[in-house]
Amino acid sequence: MASKTDRLLALLDGQPVIPVLKIGDVAQAVPLARALARGGLKAIEITLRTVEALECIRRVAAEVPEAVVGAGTILSPRQFEQAAAAGSKFIVSPGTTRELLAAASDSEVPLLPGAITPGEIMTAREAGLDFLKFFPAEQAGGAAFLKALASPIPDVRFCPTGGIGPKNASDYLALPNVVCVGGSWVAPDDLVQGERWDEIEALARQASTLRKQ
Ligand code: 3PG
Repeated sequence: MASKTDRLLALLDGQPVIPVLKIGDVAQAVPLARALARGGLKAIEITLRTVEALECIRRVAAEVPEAVVGAGTILSPRQFEQAAAAGSKFIVSPGTTRELLAAASDSEVPLLPGAITPGEIMTAREAGLDFLKFFPAEQAGGAAFLKALASPIPDVRFCPTGGIGPKNASDYLALPNVVCVGGSWVAPDDLVQGERWDEIEALARQASTLRKQ
């Protein structure tokens, strides 16, 4: 049987950029997910940074079959369970805690937990997780920091997020230990609130053409 990491990688299907979304109006979730999918970004992360997030996940899971909806900013086992019950196909957390690792090991839904330091990365690796979020990427040392991890810990791969955009995404994607990057730049607040779906689709299309070299 495929490992949870393998299943997560299969869900992401080589997508170079995972949109990190903050949605404050449930009515916007479905058109936003559809616009991103039309632009080639099917896998999306809806963050629990708004009270509406769980309902947004429910709606996208039920109404946008072409999307692969994940939940982000998961801080506790309770949020993990709520997000999984809402239909999340994967779960993202900014960091790694013992409690979250235990919740993940009890669930079929794969977890992409955050880790920055070699010690945090080794803790996640010991729990069987070898695909991690590197957050906040730019503030923590950027592509140079991640590159330095590839030699001592070559079997762990990352999805860096935080401060990444069209100008620096390729620097990360060029690294051997980077699978994809995450970012909010493809769905900025003003475009979401203005319901400017065509512009979001265009941003997604540009992002979806970024590739690992
Ligand atoms: C995340 O949770 O991944 C980040 O908040 C995304 O960071 P960004 O807004 O700088 O892209």
